[in-house]
Formats: sequence, structure tokens, C-alpha cells
Amino acid sequence: MTKLTKATITFDNGAAPIELPMLSGTLGNDVIDIRSLGKHGVFTYDPGFMSTAACNSDITFIDGEKGLLYYRGYPIEQLAEHCNFMEVSYLLLHGELPNAEQKQQFTNTINGSTMLHDQLSNIFRGFRRDAHPMAVMVGVVGSLSAFYFDTMDIRDAKCREISAHRLLAKVPTIAAWSYKYNLGQPFMYPQNHLNYAENFMHMMFATPCEKYVPNPVLAKAFERILILHADHEQNASTSTVRLVGSSGASPYACISAGIASLWGPAHGGANEATLTMLEEIGDVSRIGEFIKRAKDKNDTFRLMGFGHRVYRNMDPRAKIMRTTCHEVLDALGLHDDPMFKLAMELEKIALEDDYFVSRKLYPNVDFYSGIVMRAMGIPNSMFTAIFALARTAGWIAQWSEMVSDEELKIGRPRQLYNGCTRRDLLPIEQR
Ligand code: SDX
Repeated sequence: MTKLTKATITFDNGAAPIELPMLSGTLGNDVIDIRSLGKHGVFTYDPGFMSTAACNSDITFIDGEKGLLYYRGYPIEQLAEHCNFMEVSYLLLHGELPNAEQKQQFTNTINGSTMLHDQLSNIFRGFRRDAHPMAVMVGVVGSLSAFYFDTMDIRDAKCREISAHRLLAKVPTIAAWSYKYNLGQPFMYPQNHLNYAENFMHMMFATPCEKYVPNPVLAKAFERILILHADHEQNASTSTVRLVGSSGASPYACISAGIASLWGPAHGGANEATLTMLEEIGDVSRIGEFIKRAKDKNDTFRLMGFGHRVYRNMDPRAKIMRTTCHEVLDALGLHDDPMFKLAMELEKIALEDDYFVSRKLYPNVDFYSGIVMRAMGIPNSMFTAIFALARTAGWIAQWSEMVSDEELKIGRPRQLYNGCTRRDLLPIEQR
């Protein structure tokens, strides 16, 4: 097929056709460059951005039809198998995998920033003990803006890098402390001789009373969960980070906004919602009842962990997560875990049901991640907090790419207005 160079819009009222340039990337769909459309007196209309490329990015590529996911060109399967989270974070931020020296230096830099300012611990104490960890994370991550004034010049590359490192280093501590606060246990400080995953597990599960040694199988599985969740193109929370960042807002405020968006059950909150759903189904005998509800247009219930805006094939992360599930449950002697068996049966039944097959609704990354984390002793309420700490790597890479773009413009969508036309005000006695 010859390369597309332009698109022509014709109108059925005799108005002059509009010619628009086509743009091509290295992979994926070509795009129609509509930036000049407004001056012709028309807008495009695409609520939910189903067919809109909102930015130009080099970071992550998804092919929804083929079920492909690349970070900077590397297939997610290879990264999940051969890299650790520090290497993947470096790759997302810098565009290349680090060599051994760069990896060690990056790891040391992140380790040097894992502690929180001591006054930050007071902010946790302003929350109710039973506050959802995501509510605490939105608040505490946002409050980093009140502690770090030295890197607010986002046009300065060094400031951007320091902010990125601080966020990558501190969000796990904030997430773990949100959990400890919930439990009423003392905060556990980072132990920087541990790797990123082990350090987080230490802060989550250790207590001052006894030595805690992270289970290496679980730490490896946790590392893989972090890698799988690190970035995912222009999803709702990443688009939120970009839109907030386009106004020049503090990077800490941008990531706090991303955490808020991720919390929704249609997005990152789906892992927690999937487990809640499985617990509600309870037994294989009730799966049919819930499948029926998921198909009923009059019922707001949706099968959590199924479907995706982009993937019209199996989410490649779900496949890896399913394997990780087996490994963790075997390592813990939980291969007969009823929740896992229920999930496998639900997946099997749904994938044979025409409603799901015809709509290309496959399990997504959230379908299995909750089962793995639950098996690791992580409470449902922390699943999305862990998604957030993994996605911080992607958010700061996407934010940094955007703010360093000379063509940066504040994000300001327009609308299709359906409100009242002009009318004059009546005095109150005549209303
Ligand atoms: C994540 O964007 C990303 O990349 C996100 C993410 C990332 O890494 O950042 O991948 C992480 O958020 C994964 C998605 C997690 N969410 C869930 O598992 C929640 C359950 N899924 C759905 O809510 C839904 O599938 C969405 C929100 C994920 C996608 O919704 P879309 O693209 O807006 O799809 P749609 O609502 O237009 O649905 C199309 C059809 C509809 O039926 P019809 O109108 O054609 O009859 O499919 C149906 C929907 O009713 N449908 C479902 C369903 N998902 C879609 N029906 C039952 N159960 C579901 N889960």
C-alpha cells in the first residue's frame, strides 16, 4: 500500500474540502494531523479519545490486535524475564538499557533517596487509620511539593532528573508506610542493601521485633509485577500526568494526580475489584450467575479484570502474570488455592462465551495480579498502591518526555456545546 501523505475532508454543504497532512511513526497507525482544523471552524469529536493520538512519544508501543507491548522497542516478555525493575526504569527514562556501571550508579542514586523527610511522617498521622492506602498516597505524594522547592524549574534537565529519581525512590516508601499506618504498626525504614523489590517487601512486612528476610521467589515475582506495570502508553493515568504537567505543575503534583486517576476501578483499581469480585463469586457454581450479570445491559456489573480499551487480543502481561501465579502458588504450596482455581475456571468459561469472544474481551493484567499479590500476603487494598509505585517509572518518563519537548503546549481540549443559546437575565421577582 502506498504511503499516506494527506487526508481530504469534504463537506456535503458545498464548503471547500480541507486537506490535512498524514503523519507516520515507526510503528502503529498513521495519524491525521488535525492541528490546523480549528481555523476552518470545525473540531473533531472523540470523547474517551477512542481514535485520538494526544501526543508524540518514543517510550511504549502497544499493538492491541496482536497483543504486543514494547518498552523502548524491547518486548515485555524479554524485559520481564531478563531484567530487574531498576534496569527497566532506567530504560523508560533514558531510552536505552543501562550497562553494568550505569545500572549500579542508577541503583545507588535511587537508594540514596528512599528515605522520607522526617516531618512527612506527621502527614500520615492526619489520616484516619482505616483510610484507603490510595487516598493516603494521593495526599502524601502531592505533599512532596511542599518539601522539595529546589527542583521546581521543570525546564531544567537536572531538576527533572532529580525529581524523577526522588519519586522513583520515595513512592515505595510512601506506599509501604500507608500500609503500616493502616495496620497501626511502626514505619519500617528502607534497607538500601536490599534490591528495589526486596526493600519494598521489607518495609511492608518487617517489624522492629524480628529479622525479616524476603522470600527470593516472591521477591522475583514482585519484581516481575513491577516491570509488567511500569508503563502502558497513553492510558488514563498517564494522560492525566501529561495534562497536569502541561501547565508546568510540580512533578510531585503530577504524579499525585496520576495516582488519583489510577485508583478508579475501570483502570488500576481493577486488580482490587477483581479480587473483591472473585470473593463475591466465591464458588465455581456461581460463575454462571455473574457471567449473566456481566452481559445484562441493565446491570452495571462488569467482569473485573476483563476487557481493555486497546487490547483486542490477550494482554501479553496477563499471560506472564498467569505464569507468575503458578510459580508463586507452587512456591507457597498454594497450588490448590481456591481463588486461583476459581479465576482459571472463570477465564475458561468467559473465553468460551460468545458475548466475550465477539467483543474481544480477554483477561487483562489486573485479572491475575491480584491473585499473585494476595498469595504473597498483600491485602486487596494495597494492590492498586503497588500498581501506582510500578507505574511511577512510566509516569515520570512520560512526564519528562513531554516537558522537555520544545513543542510543549498546555493541554486544552475543546467541546461540542449543547447548552443554552444566549438569553437575558430576568430579575429574581420575575423568575
Ligand atoms: C487497566 O488503558 C490502559 O492501558 C490501562 C491499563 C494500564 O496498564 O494502564 O492496561 C490498566 O486499566 C486495565 C483495564 C482494567 N479494567 C478492568 O478490568 C475493568 C473491567 N473492564 C471494563 O470496564 C472495560 O473493559 C474497560 C474500561 C477496560 C475498557 O472499556 P472500553 O474500551 O470503554 O470498552 P467499552 O466500555 O466500549 O465496552 C465495549 C463492549 C460494551 O458492550 P456493548 O455496548 O458493545 O454491548 O464490551 C462490554 C461493554 O459493555 N464490556 C464488558 C466489559 N468490558 C467491556 N462487559 C462485561 N464485562 C467487562 N469487563
